[in-house]
Amino acid sequence: MRNLYISFILLWTLSCSGNNQQRDLTEFESEHGIGPITNEIELGTFDPILADRGEQIYMSLCVMCHGQNDSEIAPSLEGVLDRRSPEYVMNMILNPTGMIRWHPTRTDEKKYLTSMPYQSLTIEEARSIIEFLRVVSSDASL
Ligand code: HEC
Repeated sequence: MRNLYISFILLWTLSCSGNNQQRDLTEFESEHGIGPITNEIELGTFDPILADRGEQIYMSLCVMCHGQNDSEIAPSLEGVLDRRSPEYVMNMILNPTGMIRWHPTRTDEKKYLTSMPYQSLTIEEARSIIEFLRVVSSDASL
């Protein structure tokens, strides 16, 4: 009986650790990330006032890790909107732990010396950072 009990615990532990490795993603999540942004957003024409607000947040909360090219601290955000969708970037800002744990683009990526922290930003603040990032990406509408 005791052995049966132990095998059960062992099986349960194994199946849990297996689950930690993968999670079924929806089509939206595969492309746009996992988090509070669950619909595509329309960027519209460039809004310089919103971008200024985003730049202020970037300068106080992001640049210390993301400000250098080829860094082992964090990937550079220059041109990030050329490789990631705005929704993906917002989900990364709003749910970094979930993204790093579950999204294949993150789990496959090389490891950095730091970990992207959760900074309790609002959806509006994350959106303003997107506007700023449009400036450092090749956004055709600029
Ligand atoms: C303590 C350092 C640190 C801070 C502060 C930080 N990040 Fe990150 N960020 C990282 C690391 C490390 C990664 C790579 C995560 C991974 O895949 O393991 C990352 C990844 C990202 C990515 C994905 C980039 C890509 O090429 O896919 C985005 C977007 C991002 N961060 C945006 C931000 C924004 C915006 C802020 C400020 C609100 C911020 N980060 C603050 C460390 C940081």
